[in-house]
Amino acid sequence: MMFLPRVMLAEDLANVHAIESAANQFPWSQKNFADSLDAGHYAWVFCDAFDVIIAYTVVQLVVDEVHLLNLCVSPDMQRQGYGRRILDHVIDFAHSRAAVIIVLEVRESNHRAQALYEQFGFNEMSVRPGYYPAENGREDAILMGLDLSMLSMFST
Ligand SMILES: CC(C)(COP(=O)(O)OP(=O)(O)OC[C@H]1O[C@@H](n2cnc3c(N)ncnc32)[C@H](O)[C@@H]1OP(=O)(O)O)[C@@H](O)C(=O)NCCC(=O)NCCS
Repeated sequence: MMFLPRVMLAEDLANVHAIESAANQFPWSQKNFADSLDAGHYAWVFCDAFDVIIAYTVVQLVVDEVHLLNLCVSPDMQRQGYGRRILDHVIDFAHSRAAVIIVLEVRESNHRAQALYEQFGFNEMSVRPGYYPAENGREDAILMGLDLSMLSMFST
């Protein structure tokens, strides 16, 4: 199936938010996405041949660090390799901007996302206690990082 990235536009936000709400217990609001676009963050949607959005990601470039703020695949399209393809895209973007690291926060309970990140060589850097709201109070975030300087050392 086609899986083409294009820049996320304001007119995509209703569809993006519908996926976000279906895929997450504590979703970003539509305003969170709008604020991200306004702030100049980089955001892409990944579409099928009919321009239907399957997945999306939002990242922030802070000098030479890429901060992965959101990554999501529509629930009915998960476990088909699209998460990996989004990360490939983010890593290509990071290299194109000469970034040295990609960092992200993930819920301690989100084992499938952690498994995805570990496949790409992300390592646990630290824990942010009580970072996220949770059903019974708060939940820790695991801060993970992918050192791109090491990656380019291995690939040359
Ligand atoms: C996490 C997420 C992006 C993965 O996307 P995906 O397209 O399903 O992932 P892929 O098919 O590319 O799978 C890549 C790897 O992730 C892990 N993974 C994905 N889904 C999994 C599941 N249900 N159970 C266990 N591991 C899983 C596996 O290691 C998998 O590799 P494998 O299939 O070779 O075993 C997707 O589940 C999602 O959108 N979840 C909701 C939002 C979210 O949690 N985002 C991350 C926030 S930090």
